[in-house]
Amino acid sequence: MALPPGSFGLPLIGDTINFLQDAQFAKKRHQQYGPIFKSSIFGQPTVFMSGQEANLFVLSNDNQYFVATWPASTRALLGPLSLSLQTGANHQNRRKLLYQAFGPRALVGYVGAMENITQRYLDKWAKMETMTWYPELRNYTFDVAAKLLVGIDNGSETALGHNFETWCYGLFSIALDLPWTRFGKAKKGRKLLLAELENIIRDRQQGTPSGNDALSLLISARDDEGNSLSLDELKDQVLLLLFAGHDTLTSAIATFCLLLAQNPDVMAKVRAEQQQFPATEPLTLEQLKQMTYLEQVMREVLRLVPPVAVIFRTAINACEFGGYEIPKGWSVLSGITQTHQDSQLYPEPDRFDPERFSSERSAKPFSYVPFGGGLRECLGKEFARLEMKLFAAKIVRELEWELLPDQDLNLIAVPTPRPRDGLRVKFRRTTMK
Ligand code: HEM
Repeated sequence: MALPPGSFGLPLIGDTINFLQDAQFAKKRHQQYGPIFKSSIFGQPTVFMSGQEANLFVLSNDNQYFVATWPASTRALLGPLSLSLQTGANHQNRRKLLYQAFGPRALVGYVGAMENITQRYLDKWAKMETMTWYPELRNYTFDVAAKLLVGIDNGSETALGHNFETWCYGLFSIALDLPWTRFGKAKKGRKLLLAELENIIRDRQQGTPSGNDALSLLISARDDEGNSLSLDELKDQVLLLLFAGHDTLTSAIATFCLLLAQNPDVMAKVRAEQQQFPATEPLTLEQLKQMTYLEQVMREVLRLVPPVAVIFRTAINACEFGGYEIPKGWSVLSGITQTHQDSQLYPEPDRFDPERFSSERSAKPFSYVPFGGGLRECLGKEFARLEMKLFAAKIVRELEWELLPDQDLNLIAVPTPRPRDGLRVKFRRTTMK
């Protein structure tokens, strides 16, 4: 059977630089070679594919043909016990255990703190009038994560927040451990982060009272054999959770803010829906569920600009897809963004149109995949949806924002989409309240 069409690019580096720098990389080659093509990324021969059938094939064959794969820098910085590096039965067992902190019951306990932090930021922004929003949104999502995962207040201003930034910066870098390299600094950051997490965990284990947070749930969680997580595993898993939800959620919320500013008709409809709810009472999960138009808007935000653009895997067995061979050991990338741009699935795919989710059409499985799917579907999916919706409902009730002129709103694609100039806006209090 033939290998997919395409080219491996330059010797050694292959197409890595184009892949990292050109947001249209996959689209251009798709146009040139068709929906399945080969290339060479991060020193590995790689098959690119996209579309509903490709997602179905890749995401439902985890462990049989594929395993999740990460660059060496990411593997070293996440740590050996992280869920992302686990496979097979061990992965499934750990997922079940960690899910105890992300299921519906746990979420109910998170709403109050999430709302308080959101309110604090809204009050601050209302006073600032103009600002570059993206860095603030990063602080906001980190504060929520630090509070709800490990019980720390104002996380972005603490040593945990600063070390986390250094650590993040090295996650996708050349794994050269020297004091002045990004990776070397991030390794040092990991040590400091683990030391801090260890203090927090030990305090908890010695009975320091805690609010509703994921760490308390994970300390008492047991697997099917009744075993709890060791201290080392708790640290690696909590670090993964801090990471997995941070850039992704920031990107999703920033895209919401951008698209609403660019689409005043959608903004007006979202506002009109919010007027049906009592503005003075704390938000409840039940109310958030009733905001059906906001739900469509969020779905469309994640369709048009999915924070995770591709699913990365390695083929552990040779297999065949679309009439081509995928050799054992090759990397496989299934495109989320590309799938969401398929005009057969989403007519006029570049248009921001929340109405496309207005009827409960039974979409083909794996045609809408912002959170992936199958055995590795996003563990924090409901947490993310809750935070996005709660943020959106509150900000629309309290603030109006417009884009400042003369800024580059084109999106930087890697690691997660964000406006090049950081989204510069002007605020004023809404008259709704
Ligand atoms: C809008 C926000 C988010 C998006 C778009 C997103 C997207 C994704 C995607 C596409 C995957 C699958 C990766 C793969 O198959 O290789 C994933 C996995 C994961 N996500 Fe999210 N995520 C978001 C927020 C969160 C949050 C808030 C958390 C936790 C606090 C989280 C925790 C995880 C974890 C732990 C995994 C790994 C699951 C596994 O390997 O079994 N994510 N996410």
